[in-house]
Amino acid sequence: MCGIIGFIGDENVTPIIVKGLRRMEYRGYDSAGLSIRTNEGLRVIKSVGKINDLANVEDLNAISGYTGIGHTRWATHGKVNLENAHPLSSCAGEMSVVHNGIISNFQTLKKELEKEGHTFRSSTDSEVIIHLFEKYFKIGNDIKDAVLKTVNRLEGSFAFAIMLRDGEDIVGARCGTPLILGLGNNGNFLTSDILGFIEYTDKAIFLENKEIVVLGKHHFEISDFEGNLVAKEVTQVAWEFGTPTKEKYSHFTLKEILEQPLALERVISQDQKPIDLFCKKLKTRAKVVITGSGTSYHAGLYAKYVMRETAKISCDVVVSSEFKSQDVDHDTSVLVLSQSGETADALRATQIAKDAGCQVLSIVNVVGSSLARESDISLPLNCGPEVGVAATKSFTSQLALIYIIASRIGIGDDSLITSIPQKVESILGEAERIKKLVNGYTEARDFYYIARSIHIPIALEGALKMKELSYVHAEGMAAGELKHGPLALITQGTPVVVINPTDDSYQETLDNVVELKARGAKVIGISTVSHEVYDDFIPIPKVHPLLSPIIEVVPLQLLAYYAAVKMGQDPDYPRNLAKSVTVN
Ligand code: AGP
Repeated sequence: MCGIIGFIGDENVTPIIVKGLRRMEYRGYDSAGLSIRTNEGLRVIKSVGKINDLANVEDLNAISGYTGIGHTRWATHGKVNLENAHPLSSCAGEMSVVHNGIISNFQTLKKELEKEGHTFRSSTDSEVIIHLFEKYFKIGNDIKDAVLKTVNRLEGSFAFAIMLRDGEDIVGARCGTPLILGLGNNGNFLTSDILGFIEYTDKAIFLENKEIVVLGKHHFEISDFEGNLVAKEVTQVAWEFGTPTKEKYSHFTLKEILEQPLALERVISQDQKPIDLFCKKLKTRAKVVITGSGTSYHAGLYAKYVMRETAKISCDVVVSSEFKSQDVDHDTSVLVLSQSGETADALRATQIAKDAGCQVLSIVNVVGSSLARESDISLPLNCGPEVGVAATKSFTSQLALIYIIASRIGIGDDSLITSIPQKVESILGEAERIKKLVNGYTEARDFYYIARSIHIPIALEGALKMKELSYVHAEGMAAGELKHGPLALITQGTPVVVINPTDDSYQETLDNVVELKARGAKVIGISTVSHEVYDDFIPIPKVHPLLSPIIEVVPLQLLAYYAAVKMGQDPDYPRNLAKSVTVN
């Protein structure tokens, strides 16, 4: 989703803004831009495509100043084109804004502002922000007053930063999407993501919803939307936000898949006391509801099984975008799962839960994220930064931590998990086999993934990886559901991936494979034992059935990754997707 950066300081701002934008590239974007306050006024440079394309528009080295804002845009309202790229300017071009979020009442505001003589140049919702600000600034000539009046007219979600030609300070506001201050020795930052400033400072202030900031070189003032000053704590940002690099790997996605044994070791060896406290808290309410989006939702589906089997807790799992107040009551513990901790749907579900008087627990990778701060208690995944848009190591880490929690609650012993990192390592040894196997499926336009019981979330996750990385249609389902409809889609050569380790559901799933074969399917078996019915086979080690999903998903991640590479897609930045989905 959109990335925002602002800097004001003693150093030339242009390279700082460009570097910050590059670090936030992983969020996913379709155009980029920056606005620099120079001696000749504001210089706005924008391009469609990658951040590197900005240098083709103008020689960035020739533009210097001490105040600037930048943006990577992930289009919501208005096509991907130069006019809609941010920064967006006021009528006379002496003010610029960068925005993340959606202004839901923009049409009404636009009409009103046009009537008053404002000229709009884009078809974005965001442009109303700068015209409103311009209107109120012209009345009072006061940056704080103008931003307060502006935010009180806006509906929807937003984080924005505004800079002016005639004034040094940057002003920003947060309502629903993240905005963070980075306090450096040579100047201050305002960004949507810690990665935007981590190279310069580890001192951060997280703005809360309905707060504004007026930011100078060596000062800042934070207020609520009524204008009352708010005192804030400075947070020391931890090492895990450091700069991730691809190292020797061709893609972040591959690096993160291969890093999983190490990530799992970190999950397993983390401080035990917070986990025990978390388990204790979870049990204090009669009902447990789990929520998350995408891959995190799949982790929630896994949690349902493991909580039932081990902890003897029956849970409901609700995808965050569908979470309603009717799903919970005040005697509910709501467990929110999220890698980023900034997913708008998960944050909305959190708010619904809080409003209903629930206890909110979360498992989050990004420490200090909105979700971590808004929860009553939060556990970190500790799997390190995940840059690839496709969740990989965060998923296996979520499963591992969920297993640990359920086992502690249920039998007070999670020691079985200690063998898992090494087992995952052994599957990674199959990477070359999987890479070759992909060659036999390059013509496939549809993939089906089937499994039973606790393996169903892995079928869903395998299909999600395949569609988001390779753009090939893929569907995951309960194997038992085939005969209720999907079997009609199976023709000669249709690829079906079957996840079938030797546990209670083994034989039934094998029977489904035989039915599929009779209709011409080409089956890839993922199992602890080979069988003649599989056209291709990927062996996985035998582990406890409740831990098996952590192992099974790894070959599916590799399958999707190699399929994407084979088809010429960029697995790190799939089209139309963003790492952190900050709009509902
Ligand atoms: C997974 O590969 C996806 N890119 C996506 O489904 C993701 O899991 C989802 O957007 C939730 O993100 P979160 O875990 O950061 O909340």
